[in-house]
Amino acid sequence: MSIFQATTSAPVNIACIKYWGKRNEQLILPTNSSLSVTLSQDNLRSTTTARADPSFTADCLWLNGKVDPIKAGGRLHTCITEMKRLRAAFEAANPDQPKIAVFNVHICSFNNFPTAAGLASSASGFAALVYALAKLYALPQTPEELSLIARRGSGSACRSLFGGFVAWDMGSDDATGSDSKARQVAPESHWPEMEALICVVNDAKKGTSSTSGMQRTVVTSALLQHRIGFVVPSRMAEIESAIADKRFGDFAEITMRDSNQFHAVALDTYPPIFYMNDVSRAIIAIITEYNRLSEQPKAAYTYDAGPNAVIYALTPNVREIAQLVLYYFPQAEKVVIGGQEVQAALPEGFNEAVAKRWEVGAVKGLIHTRVGDGPRVLSDSEALLNAQGIPKTLA
Ligand code: DP6
Repeated sequence: MSIFQATTSAPVNIACIKYWGKRNEQLILPTNSSLSVTLSQDNLRSTTTARADPSFTADCLWLNGKVDPIKAGGRLHTCITEMKRLRAAFEAANPDQPKIAVFNVHICSFNNFPTAAGLASSASGFAALVYALAKLYALPQTPEELSLIARRGSGSACRSLFGGFVAWDMGSDDATGSDSKARQVAPESHWPEMEALICVVNDAKKGTSSTSGMQRTVVTSALLQHRIGFVVPSRMAEIESAIADKRFGDFAEITMRDSNQFHAVALDTYPPIFYMNDVSRAIIAIITEYNRLSEQPKAAYTYDAGPNAVIYALTPNVREIAQLVLYYFPQAEKVVIGGQEVQAALPEGFNEAVAKRWEVGAVKGLIHTRVGDGPRVLSDSEALLNAQGIPKTLA
């Protein structure tokens, strides 16, 4: 008897031009286009095994070892249903293919980074799920076409179907959303010197989720209208051109300005939403002072719906930036970059007074990574389900 199974992994992406606001909640159509950098799966990834079998009595999903209910009409349900629909169409067009679209599926997914780190896992998670089902079903769809379905899981997930530098074009088809999809602006090989230092910031309180936060922004913020109408369209064109020409200074300025505006729009929401905290703001002050020392910015901070900082920088400058972060935010464990331990230090001419030196734990971890590739197909030996289709960790 044949086994119908596939295992894939998918990357995290961090936006330089932020997606914030939906014009259609059901279809997940955004109020503006966005652009992100895909981070290497060598450091951060979601891994997913999907299997179809006539013996399964229901669709079932395990996330990080626990059952995640697939609610009718929910986002998971939509993605799985859409993928089954594509398989059914494929079977209709290719009558020699096995009829597996009608089978229930078991899906098992793991993130290799702790949820407690506050790193969004929905983007890599939905991208890995859609990609695993696409491989299980041997579908001919391109990553761009698959991004339409990942988008229905979580908006930002559509950008994790590609490596490198990725745009999500908002599209104009409001009836079906057929043109609201991801597009690769440049592959990772175009600018492999692009690296990222993620500062995992301690977060005591539970923040507002992206989904409900952006809903409230769309309803209450006048500033959002200015952002989507007058700011983002030209910014998208400018950052695409900066990436094409590898102009890091321009890339950095646009990225920092867009993060600032996203958080301004959150503040303009009523009641207001605060995602950054004192540590986040101290990192902004430190990067701003660092950039003052050179003609062009050498580091770009950006923040999503939480206090963690992602600092983009080019390879030659990453060590110096890590030394600087360590000076203000001492770490309990040693930090190694390029095989060498990083020591706390300030660059020549740096005004130390821009921030205070924090206690150990204010930044509870540093993750050094770089631009990376799109979803990968993994071998059967890496499958997360056992022979019976049950997560190996539970069997
Ligand atoms: C701040 O994709 O998590 O990270 O579509 O409601 O699932 P939903 O929202 P989500 O929002 C991400 C918002 C952001 C910016 C970005 O990634 O572009």
